[in-house]
Amino acid sequence: METKELQNRRLLLGVTGGIAAYKCAELVRLFRQRGAEVQIVMTEAAKRFITPLTLQALAGRPVRCDLWDIQAEEAMGHIELARWAELVLVAPASADFLARLRIGRADDLLTTLCLATEARLAVAPAMNRVMWQHPATRDNVDVLRQRGVEIWGPAEGEQACGEIGPGRMLAPDELVRRVGEFWLPRRMKGVKILITAGPTREVIDPVRYLTNRSSGKMGYALAQAARDAGAQVTLVSGPVSLVPPAGIECVTVQSAREMFAAVMERIAGQDIFVGAAAVADYTPLRIEKKKIKKNSRTVTLELARTVDILATVAALDTPPFTVGFAAETDGLKGYAQSKLERKKLDMIAANHVGPGLGFEVDDNALWVFWPGGERRLSRAPKQILARKLMTLIMDRYAEKNSIENSG
Ligand code: PMT
Repeated sequence: METKELQNRRLLLGVTGGIAAYKCAELVRLFRQRGAEVQIVMTEAAKRFITPLTLQALAGRPVRCDLWDIQAEEAMGHIELARWAELVLVAPASADFLARLRIGRADDLLTTLCLATEARLAVAPAMNRVMWQHPATRDNVDVLRQRGVEIWGPAEGEQACGEIGPGRMLAPDELVRRVGEFWLPRRMKGVKILITAGPTREVIDPVRYLTNRSSGKMGYALAQAARDAGAQVTLVSGPVSLVPPAGIECVTVQSAREMFAAVMERIAGQDIFVGAAAVADYTPLRIEKKKIKKNSRTVTLELARTVDILATVAALDTPPFTVGFAAETDGLKGYAQSKLERKKLDMIAANHVGPGLGFEVDDNALWVFWPGGERRLSRAPKQILARKLMTLIMDRYAEKNSIENSG
């Protein structure tokens, strides 16, 4: 039976001018086969490489090319399309298109849509290798990536111009795979997941506390990715200034002790636990009832170890699939692998932390380890990384369950 993992997903496929445009015929066929609704928008240059009629026949709906289409624009067609799309994929994306996207042009239908949409945007570059490696293109791609645009490819190999190098559009089946991963099929339906996020505050006296730089962005992005994939999500959050994603249960706590209690109260029946919070390792032994006065030149705080929430969850009699994080300034791989083994985790996601890294910022990069495997997830906005990590978690979780059920 055909898998319909993109059933009813609304995909807007932008086609720009490049020889790889001919591959869009196969791309559209694969998307349709998987159940997606595909709306095609072509630039003028694209029409020189493949006809709208071909793509229209495959997509099963009229191809849009013109920003000035009087009939379509009667109902503000370009805004309607921008709202309709759940994902905009531009494939092939020419060097010219990337440059126009970078500077925010809106002089044809496709660039206008890209500016007007709130949907996620992915591009599959395709061009001559020298054009791809040109500093202007590199710069455009860097800026787009920082803005959260997904850059898929290009692949290396023989090019239409006879040269060999990076610049080929990714193969249609690879693009379909990425779209599936990006969208995360609702494979977490029925799965219960508990995620911790943010920092903790360890009170010293009525006006002071110890904390760290965690903003909660990574944990909140994970909660959103899991919710989008159909999971039932509980988020236990330290004090942050983020709004919890709709449709999840969010429990707010202040200290490591409160976080521990909130997690342990809710852990029974959870399938997956992810510890993304930056939990204080130490807390003041005593909380002063009155504000500490500055009577002496130095002051000594006596600190006690907090309970390790992650290790406690992993050591339960029937633990959920347990995923930790490792925040390190150095020795990322070594420390992460030793935490994985020592705490008996199913998976650990390691990230570098320091000025502009890991904490607070919108981007992150992860190095993920599990018993017998590893995967690097390169620098990207936390929302995108969260989806990739959730895909990895689900792959390992499904594998572990199938081994346990067959054993
Ligand atoms: O919140 P952001 O600004 O987006 O930043 C994201 C992040 C850097 C905080 C996040 O990606 C991250 O790395 N979180 C874990 C931070 C951390 O405390 O790492 P650690 O190496 O000190 O701890 C290892 C693991 O043990 C973590 O899963 C942590 O949640 C857990 N732990 C630690 C101490 C404790 N008492 N209980 C715990 O459960």
